[in-house]
Amino acid sequence: MPDPNCALCDGTGWRPVQSGEVTGVERCACDQATRPARLLESARIPPRFDRASFENFLLPRDNPQANESLSKAMLGARVFAREFPHIEKPGLLFMGLPGVGKTHLAVAVLKVLLERGFECLFLDYQGLLDRIRSGYDPAAGSSAREAYQEALDTEVVLLDDLGAHRVTDWVLDTVTAVINHRYNGRRATIVTTNLPDPETGDVLAEKNPLSGHYMVRDSLGDRIGARARSRLFEMCRLVRITATEDYRLRGLR
Ligand SMILES: Nc1ncnc2c1ncn2[C@@H]1O[C@H](COP(=O)(O)OP(=O)(O)OP(=O)(O)O)[C@@H](O)[C@H]1O
Ligand SMILES: [Mg+2]
Ligand SMILES: [Zn+2]
Repeated sequence: MPDPNCALCDGTGWRPVQSGEVTGVERCACDQATRPARLLESARIPPRFDRASFENFLLPRDNPQANESLSKAMLGARVFAREFPHIEKPGLLFMGLPGVGKTHLAVAVLKVLLERGFECLFLDYQGLLDRIRSGYDPAAGSSAREAYQEALDTEVVLLDDLGAHRVTDWVLDTVTAVINHRYNGRRATIVTTNLPDPETGDVLAEKNPLSGHYMVRDSLGDRIGARARSRLFEMCRLVRITATEDYRLRGLR
């Protein structure tokens, strides 16, 4: 909150600045001091990722291929977090198998952006769709309309686990509308998904280790529709993690 007694901004949080003939406004220092803390709270990062950051993202020493893939992913994420908004594409798309650290890295980006003063929001895809559909959002104490509106309009949105939802026409329409709106407005969108994308090199067939049968997985396009997928690839830089080890299962080996 701005200081109500601030002489520079008169308590508005915006102080006038003169540049040549032109007068503009700039965020006042009295507001900036507490802004990152407030922003962090309103970003609603789930407690499980409270501590996730670039600093505690570990690179495996025993596996050169995984090490290289994760180093590259981390570097791409770091550059985005540092350079935003002066970057070619206003988004990041993390792809990879479950547990390889996609959400961890995406949250690490979000935290840097929050620290830099950008308004960010963590949205769990499944939760978002449930909230929009049910008409009320217990997490935020707000209506579905608000849940939808904030997904459209927040400066930076992290859409976590995209495609992790049963597909219906309504789901396809909703995800297309959200992505299309953000695409048109060039709003920053960070996405994670563990769905395969055969058009960019993934395989859909997977052997069931128990039965030995192959099963075909749904692709990203199957789950979010071709229109949303196409926009996503245009607005996001692809960060594909090819490491295969699930970090959650470490130590269980
Ligand atoms: N390289 C890493 N260093 C430290 N912690 C990690 C690393 N990779 C993953 N983790 C931790 O392991 C857990 C799983 O990682 P994360 O949730 O980011 O996986 P994910 O790729 O998003 O998986 P899913 O597709 O299932 O959502 C998290 O608690 C995360 O903090
Ligand atoms: Mg995840
Ligand atoms: Zn002030």
